[in-house]
Parts: sequence; structure tokens; C-alpha cells
Amino acid sequence: MNVRTFLVLGGTGFVGSHLTAALVAAGHTVRLPTRHPERAAALRILPGVELLRADVHDPVTLAGCARGADVLINLVGILNEHGRAGTGFRRAHVELAVKAVNACRSAGVPRLLHMSGLPAATDGPSYYLRSKGEAEAVVRAATDLAVTIFRPSVIFGRGDSFLNRFAALLGPLPVLPLARIDARLQPVYVGDVVAAFCRAAHDSATHGRSYDLVGPEVMTLGEIVRYVRDRLGLRRAVFGLPDALGALQAGLLEWLPGKPLSLDNFRSLGVPSTSDRDGLAELGIERTPLAAIAPTYLGDDARTARLMRNRSGSRTRKV
Ligand SMILES: NC(=O)c1ccc[n+]([C@@H]2O[C@H](COP(=O)([O-])OP(=O)(O)OC[C@H]3O[C@@H](n4cnc5c(N)ncnc54)[C@H](OP(=O)(O)O)[C@@H]3O)[C@@H](O)[C@H]2O)c1
Repeated sequence: MNVRTFLVLGGTGFVGSHLTAALVAAGHTVRLPTRHPERAAALRILPGVELLRADVHDPVTLAGCARGADVLINLVGILNEHGRAGTGFRRAHVELAVKAVNACRSAGVPRLLHMSGLPAATDGPSYYLRSKGEAEAVVRAATDLAVTIFRPSVIFGRGDSFLNRFAALLGPLPVLPLARIDARLQPVYVGDVVAAFCRAAHDSATHGRSYDLVGPEVMTLGEIVRYVRDRLGLRRAVFGLPDALGALQAGLLEWLPGKPLSLDNFRSLGVPSTSDRDGLAELGIERTPLAAIAPTYLGDDARTARLMRNRSGSRTRKV
């Protein structure tokens, strides 16, 4: 495998940290522009990582970051925006996808790997899903570049904000009333997602294609939350709310710091995040079940503690 230089946007996050570690372990150089280099101390010490304070939304800055890179990976994504009109989603997903394509063109980067999410669609019911769908369309239209799109369901693994978020919620609450308890998800392991990016980066057969990344089991949200509860040995009642109450809960929670749940999340959960297409198998990767990994980090993950602190302290990231 040739040693290459990767520019990873959003590389300091959950998926990005795992991906960066895998890329540098394989001998590659990884350039990580971030708004907050001080928060990425663990990545800075990895050999082969170049951490840069940069505003990737500025086209000139982005083209500068891309110069000399062989592959651009765009992992930037948000689940909630600062406002409520979809502008933050558009900026983070659609406008940045346009800028990433333009940066590849102006800096001569031939390869673009783009992270989307299931079930993104331009006619989806939420700003999140629609903006992810529009971003896919932008990337797909860039036929002069070698592009590959990944569409994962919810991703679990050490440092996630999925199982850890529920672990943090279940801790202090005696009961957990859950909106969209029957939402269908197909959790996929972050190690498998990383393997998919690494395979695709070197495989020309993936050019122009998109891959649904899903785990081996379809689970409802309620099943997942009860699994977390049982693994943590907690005795908490988890029950579903009818949709009208669930929407009301989301509408109230989105005013709390950190937006634990928003109406946009509620609308996204109305569509199954599942797929019959096993993109991991298409890439020659065997899917890892949730139960094989979750017990190795649930309850002892630093992210759980951070999420618990954020629920009372922090504000939603402004975009
Ligand atoms: N995690 C999942 O379950 C899941 C499921 C489906 C799809 N995805 C997609 O996978 C990608 C990575 O997810 P993740 O869980 O790793 O996310 P994450 O932990 O929240 O990290 C996202 C990264 O994007 C950067 N970022 C966020 N908002 C930005 C903005 N407005 N402008 C510039 N940079 C911004 C942040 O970098 P800095 O703060 O360092 O600047 C952050 O490191 C996202 O596109 C997400 O939509 C994730």
C-alpha cells in the first residue's frame, strides 16, 4: 500500500479519531484541520498527524489545507444546529460538500471520500436528512473526481455519543420515557466503518459508488436502550411515548443546553435507519455485532462522563 497524505475534515470527532489512528498506523500522513486544536491533544501526539487550526468553511483556507494531499475525506456532520431554520445543517453539510469538491479541484486532489448517513434523502422529513441527501447529490455530481459515499446507520464504539448518551441518561433518571421507541436502527461498529474507508481509499472499484454501512442486526431504539440498561445493571423503567407526546418532549428538550433531543431528531427517527444492502460485505468486511463490542466500553467510557457534564453545562455548538 502506497503511503499517502489524507486531509480529513471533521477528523477530530468520534469516527475521525478512530479513522486517523488507523491511517497513521498504516504509515499514512493525516492532516486534521479543526476549530479547536486544544481539544484534540490525544490526536496531536500520534506520529504522522498534522493538527491545524483552520476554518474549513473558508475556500482559500480549505484549498491551502488540500494542497499536496492525495485523498480528501469529509466527515463533518452535525445532529443539531444552533437555530431552527435548517441554515446550520445546510452550511455544515451541503455548502461544505460544495467547498470540499472545489478544494479537490483547485488543489488537484483526485480522490474524495464523503460521509453521509442513513437514510439521507433530498425529500427526507428532517433538515438533517434532507441536507445530508443534498450533500450526497453534490458529491455524486462531481464526476471529474473519484468519489465514494458512505451511508452508515448509527455508529457504536468506544467514544460514541450513542450508547454512551443513553448510559448517561439512564444513570440519574429513575424512569426513561422515550420518544420514537420503535424507531428501527441497524447499529454499525466504528471499526467496520473505519475499515470501509481504508479499503475504499485504495480500491478504484469503489469510485463513483455509495455504500450503506449497517450492522448485522436491526434493533428498535427501545431494544438498544434496554440493552444498555441491562449491561449497566440498572433497574430503570424504559417506556415509549405516543408520537404526540414524543414530539412535545423533543420540542421541550431542544431548548435545553446541548439539545439532548430536538424536533429535527424526532423527525429523522420517523424513517428507519436500516438497509438491505450490506455495503460492508461489498467491501469484503465482516460485520461486527453490537454485543461483541459494547461490553468492552459501556460504563467506563470517558465520553459518558463528558456527556453527563454537558447536559447541565455546555451550549449547543454554534455553526
Ligand atoms: N456517529 C454516528 O452514529 C453517525 C451515524 C451516521 C452518520 N454519521 C456521520 O459521520 C460523520 C462523523 O460523525 P461523528 O460521530 O464522528 O461526529 P462528531 O464526533 O460530532 O465529529 C464531527 C466533527 O466535525 C467537525 N464539525 C462539526 N461541526 C462543524 C462545522 N459546523 N464546521 C466545521 N467542522 C465541524 C468537528 O470538528 P472540530 O470541532 O474539531 O472543528 C467534529 O470533530 C458525520 O458526518 C455524521 O453525520 C455519524
